[in-house]
Amino acid sequence: MPTSIPEIPENAPFSAEQRAWLKNYLSELVSKLGPAALPSNTAGKPRALFFYGSQSGNAQALSEGYVEIMNGDGWAAEAVSMEDHAKVDLKHEPLILVITSTWGEGDPPDTAVEFWDKFKSDGQSKLPNSRFSVLALGDTNYADFCEMGKLMDARLEELGAKRIAPRIDCDVDYEEPAEEWFRVVTSKLDEIGKEVFTTTVTASRESAEVESTEDLPFGKKNPFPSALKYRYRLNLDPSPRDTRHLELDLEGSGLEYEVGDAVATYPLNDPALVDEVLAALPFNTAVSIQTKDKKKLPLRDALMESFDIRTVTKAILKKWAALTCHPYLHAVIEDDAEVAKILDGIEIIDLLYDFPADFKSGQDFVDLLRRLTPRLYSIASSPKKHPNEVHLTVAKVTYETKGRVRKGVASTFLCEGMGEGDTVRVFMQPTKHFKLPTDLSKDVIMVGPGTGIAPFRAFLEEREVTKATGRNWLFFGNPHEATDYFYKKEFDAMQESGVLTKLDLAWSRDQKHKIYVQDKIRENSEEIWNWLENGAHFYVCGDAKYMAPDVERALLESIRKFGGMDDEGATAYLKKLKDEHRYQRDVY
Ligand SMILES: Cc1cc2nc3c(=O)[nH]c(=O)nc-3n(C[C@H](O)[C@H](O)[C@H](O)COP(=O)(O)OP(=O)(O)OC[C@H]3O[C@@H](n4cnc5c(N)ncnc54)[C@H](O)[C@@H]3O)c2cc1C
Ligand SMILES: Cc1cc2nc3c(=O)[nH]c(=O)nc-3n(C[C@H](O)[C@H](O)[C@H](O)COP(=O)(O)O)c2cc1C
Repeated sequence: MPTSIPEIPENAPFSAEQRAWLKNYLSELVSKLGPAALPSNTAGKPRALFFYGSQSGNAQALSEGYVEIMNGDGWAAEAVSMEDHAKVDLKHEPLILVITSTWGEGDPPDTAVEFWDKFKSDGQSKLPNSRFSVLALGDTNYADFCEMGKLMDARLEELGAKRIAPRIDCDVDYEEPAEEWFRVVTSKLDEIGKEVFTTTVTASRESAEVESTEDLPFGKKNPFPSALKYRYRLNLDPSPRDTRHLELDLEGSGLEYEVGDAVATYPLNDPALVDEVLAALPFNTAVSIQTKDKKKLPLRDALMESFDIRTVTKAILKKWAALTCHPYLHAVIEDDAEVAKILDGIEIIDLLYDFPADFKSGQDFVDLLRRLTPRLYSIASSPKKHPNEVHLTVAKVTYETKGRVRKGVASTFLCEGMGEGDTVRVFMQPTKHFKLPTDLSKDVIMVGPGTGIAPFRAFLEEREVTKATGRNWLFFGNPHEATDYFYKKEFDAMQESGVLTKLDLAWSRDQKHKIYVQDKIRENSEEIWNWLENGAHFYVCGDAKYMAPDVERALLESIRKFGGMDDEGATAYLKKLKDEHRYQRDVY
């Protein structure tokens, strides 16, 4: 039965230090009871459910942040992932605040697929006693912008729940609109009156299963420490790029995956940056702090593994402004244009140097930071060919802003931070929208320039092992053939053995004019049309911003030209391919 943190009696025979240790221990114990553990002292308080659908952690982080704020304001708020939908009974929830992202092509995040299937079905109970509002996270680079939030919003209304504040759809810079949504929601709640939402805690939650991470199998809630078995650089000198092939050990993890899935990794921050941040802090840093998961850790460990020590958002800058005496930051903090200029290319370490702030403690400082979120990587191996291993193709992110070299957290950790034998915590992220045809006789066309090649190495290995009779056509591209031809030997061998039926390569910088995979698609448009008409599946992986839309345009041109269609006809043809799961993209 869930419980609140027990009070330590005043007369208990403990020193202040022992008392603090015990309090922390008990708090950790209670927090380990998991999301089902609504403290018993919440009965009689207004109840709010933040029900989130999140894949890479944004919606989760927002939900958890808002829960903290509302609980500080006397609510019994709780953040529950749609993945754990069985732990809540929506018809007993007086206030449902949905925060959800959209994935794939207008699809729910994978953690919300099961819930959404149930929620949209006819059997779903009506929700006449619930009030709701939806915050939708998305990216305008995708055609189905914030689709999942829109669908949730409409479905909640259809089920009779009353909307208390309009849905807000957020683009990649979601923090400010999210804050606005939360502000509107909370002011609406003030108008309605908290007492309307006061209920006793629902029975379903109290009887829900209590989990501690130690008892859990390895997975999202208990990531597996996977050792690096082997790594090599895929680019050759003198390429300035650094993309690595990694082989991680899954032996004993019980983790399973299919080709098309991704691995989520929890990186560690760069130790040199952590030490620089510590040195710039204005207080004794040999302290322990509480992480967002309510774990007590020495500050250095927490900065290594739990907090995003790079990102500065507008919300962080505003909080920072309240803690610094810096006259310039004070003067411009309400000026959006100036704030945008400050935020451009800045990181936490720059704030520490440029706008020294009066943090009283380590906790003050970390409370300002975002949680370090897992990064996803497309799986580059077939489990049938490499049992107990998972392979990745990771491009190291390095760039310069404000005269400083900046390093992507996860890619740097995976490519150079961890050594062979070191571990990285991982879990599998199944992808429902990126799957090989089950009918092995079907042809597949794969377009994967750069790191987009990863899932197609896995697809080809899988097709080899399963002896698929369908043909396999790969489009790959990168700047230079001599230095950037990833997996050349493997693809040569696959061509020789007949697994790789056709290979088209686009080396963008080997000649004066740039050649990209979309150009290769145009060159081959008649044959592509013929393959499609023969039932082929068409896959795209890699860059979402430029490559994927360009490839789609080239594909539509082939359909128009050789299918004898106008624009509308070609779009309808492509939509049909999508509906039949024959046009699938995994772009990021
Ligand atoms: C489904 C999926 C599959 C993926 N598969 C792969 C894969 O197979 N291989 C792979 O390498 N990656 C893959 N990614 C991307 C990967 O998840 C990470 O986003 C990537 O490695 C960067 O993470 P990081 O922690 O190193 O960088 P972060 O610390 O997250 O830093 C990246 C951030 O730095 C900033 N930035 C980057 N470049 C610049 C610049 N030039 N100027 C200014 N700012 C900049 C941007 O704000 C960017 O968001 C995939 C992503 C998804 C969603
Ligand atoms: C592979 C991929 C597919 C995506 N598909 C969509 C989409 O179809 N529509 C959309 O609005 N946003 C899309 N997004 C953007 C995410 O919804 C956005 O990054 C969101 O902030 C993620 O929130 P989360 O971390 O809570 O999952 C996609 C992002 C990725 C990486």
